[in-house]
Amino acid sequence: MALYAIGDLHLHYQSTLKSRRQMTERVWKNHEEKLRRNCEALLTPEDTLVLVGDHSWGRKLSECEEDLRFITDLPGRKILTRGNHDMFWDAGKTGELNRLFEGKLEFLQGGFARYGDYALVATKGACFEGPFYLDRRGRILGWDEENAEQARKLVTREAERLRAGLEEAKAAGCRKLLIFLHYPPTSILEEESVFTRLAEEYGAEQLVYAHIHGETRYGDSILGDFRGTRYSLVSGDYLKWQPLKLLD
Ligand SMILES: [Fe+2]
Ligand SMILES: [Fe+2]
Repeated sequence: MALYAIGDLHLHYQSTLKSRRQMTERVWKNHEEKLRRNCEALLTPEDTLVLVGDHSWGRKLSECEEDLRFITDLPGRKILTRGNHDMFWDAGKTGELNRLFEGKLEFLQGGFARYGDYALVATKGACFEGPFYLDRRGRILGWDEENAEQARKLVTREAERLRAGLEEAKAAGCRKLLIFLHYPPTSILEEESVFTRLAEEYGAEQLVYAHIHGETRYGDSILGDFRGTRYSLVSGDYLKWQPLKLLD
């Protein structure tokens, strides 16, 4: 039994592809097939795969059915967390999605799921992504204050959701914790954040995030060990569609 994670499948079996990167970069060519083959070689029916947001380009559930079927057909237990592009999934509809896909897929948002004696705590997260104003050498001179203010509000709300999930897991007697965020835990301006402080405060063993695409951006947030927690980026293109093993 092992736990794996990967994010950002950005499937589009029934919907329009909306990313230039996905249309032009080699890593995205037939990425669904690469992922399927890797999962079939790697995962057994006893394993669990956490899909860390941005599952589908579909805007409503009826445009995501084939994408979700593709995920259903991957081996093992599948837990989906929410990304910024998952328009089919309002936070308030998580219960309904779980009823609809019972026995096939688990949708996890703002609570926790059990994996052995671990609690997997997930929420979308948030971080400030600009726009930034750069000088000719690409150094940051400033940023859009209105967007920064909006991001601060989202960070506060998401941090509350994360704390609530961590508390729920603790109240249920779970001592071992893994945190899943779709957004990276820090912006490019930060060394730490409310999310890294929560990971430290609750003693989370790992914090897993996705969302970051493209070689030049993979180092935007924390990678590796930081204050007792291991940080991993699991966006599919970063992992070249090979799920990352988190736990045996
Ligand atoms: Fe993405
Ligand atoms: Fe994303």
